[in-house]
Amino acid sequence: MFENLKYEVKDHIAYVTVNRPKALNALSKEVLDELYQAFTMVDQDPEVGAAILTGEGRAFVAGADISQMVDLSGIAGQDMMKQGALVMNHIEEISKPVIGAINGFALGGGCELAMACDIRIASVNAKFGQPEVNLGIIPGFGGTQRLPRLVGKGMGKYMMMTAEMVNAQEALRIGLVEKVVEADDLIPTCEKIAQTIMSKAPIAIKAVKTAVNNGIMLDVKTGIAFEGEACGAPFCSEDRKEGMTAFLEKRPAKFENK
Ligand code: HXC
Repeated sequence: MFENLKYEVKDHIAYVTVNRPKALNALSKEVLDELYQAFTMVDQDPEVGAAILTGEGRAFVAGADISQMVDLSGIAGQDMMKQGALVMNHIEEISKPVIGAINGFALGGGCELAMACDIRIASVNAKFGQPEVNLGIIPGFGGTQRLPRLVGKGMGKYMMMTAEMVNAQEALRIGLVEKVVEADDLIPTCEKIAQTIMSKAPIAIKAVKTAVNNGIMLDVKTGIAFEGEACGAPFCSEDRKEGMTAFLEKRPAKFENK
């Protein structure tokens, strides 16, 4: 189905694996196109409740494809940045939760791809960085915006100005990832998280995603007003009635995405 990705659905989880291990899964134009398509499938397939995004081999993604960028004109370079930013926004905005399973290098566009996921789990050998200034450019797939929102303004600038790589433990300390696990536990841990999220009311999960993603860009008061709006769909859902009734009847809830 794809040339540069593996895509598989099992037990309601879509596994999206960037599959260019010889180039450390660098994001070529073609990979970006395929990622967009894959996450549209995740969004639209009613059988899919969550996605796990990872990389084949020793990298998650080592950045945008430098061999494709080297001869680009300034305008074409900006176009590529826009294409990448669009893909990251798409992943962030789809209605299903996306878990990044960071198995190795997540550099440049790879770190930006990880940050577009809802939740990041790193294996002990993951390495993160925004080394664009080494190449005479800046992060262009959302990094200057998402990184400071995750790790703070100072640490964000530190990473983007020094191009230093941080290991998984440091990424955990600064809030760039949510958990660090042994390499063999990476996918099972992500699967467990996906299963936990999928056991909750899907309309509520979608509303959490929308409220957080939109609210974080607003001042707190406007964000809280946005949250008030986002509460509407879950509160009007049948699953809300079921969740509350199940609590009172001391039984597990059976959610139906209605
Ligand atoms: C194209 C890449 C690549 C990349 C690695 N490769 N990263 N090709 N684009 N981003 C290729 C190498 O050329 C090499 O190919 C093969 O993958 C293995 O990489 P090595 O360098 O031999 O491996 P190693 O010595 O272990 O070093 C790993 C590494 C290093 C530290 C990750 O590869 C590296 O620094 N890569 C570049 C990281 C980077 O600068 N990313 C940011 C890109 S800019 P061959 O054919 O020689 O085996 C970016 C900006 C996005 O992402 C927004 C702007 C549009």
